[in-house]
Amino acid sequence: MIAPSVLSADFLNLGRDVEMINNSEAALFHIDVMDGRFVPNISFGLPVIKAIKKIAKKPLDVHLMIVEPEKYFVDFKNAGADILSVHYETSTHLHRSLQAIKDLGMKAGVAINPHTPVSLLADIINEIDLVCMMSVNPGFGGQSFIPHTIGKIKELKSIINAKAATTLIEIDGGVTLSNAAEIIAAGADILVAGNTVFSSDNPTQMIADLQKLSK
Ligand code: DX5
Ligand code: ZN
Repeated sequence: MIAPSVLSADFLNLGRDVEMINNSEAALFHIDVMDGRFVPNISFGLPVIKAIKKIAKKPLDVHLMIVEPEKYFVDFKNAGADILSVHYETSTHLHRSLQAIKDLGMKAGVAINPHTPVSLLADIINEIDLVCMMSVNPGFGGQSFIPHTIGKIKELKSIINAKAATTLIEIDGGVTLSNAAEIIAAGADILVAGNTVFSSDNPTQMIADLQKLSK
């Protein structure tokens, strides 16, 4: 599955870019929320997500790069999030957070930074609908894929299989046409793509090309 990252869209033409994603082979909208505290950048928040939701024809996959994310679960549900991911590094009571997200009727995701070992998820993997594995340091689009991620994908896949979990693996950051096949072969289910899609001359075609690799 391909999840174009709205962070790289043209905010002056956001409606046009949302329609492009609607009419493409993309499976999800990937939506990055940054607070300037957990990550050294500020992106956008609830009003923008609400606006996207009005015309989006695919689920909103919201990636929270914010401290104390649990304060805002209800707000993100009301804004239209279908999948809500919190960072492992921000969540002292991860199990409680995942339950709270699911109780609100959303799928629950956990995002991990490049330095966070996947083994830390072993005891909670059956509660996680989606692991958003960062393959760049979170905060910015357009960075280069960290190669070490490939081994982490394989390791996570074996934990998921060993625990008979149904968790999906999403790879976030630096996905390109050149590395997508290797990422999929390692075990990824969802590829986030920001710069690769939106800097392309034909974003719809780029999404189709990425999608073709996952078949
Ligand atoms: C980075 C974000 C990513 C970002 C990916 O902090 O989580 O979702 O938009 O962008 P690209 O695909 O350009 O690396
Ligand atoms: Zn993201």
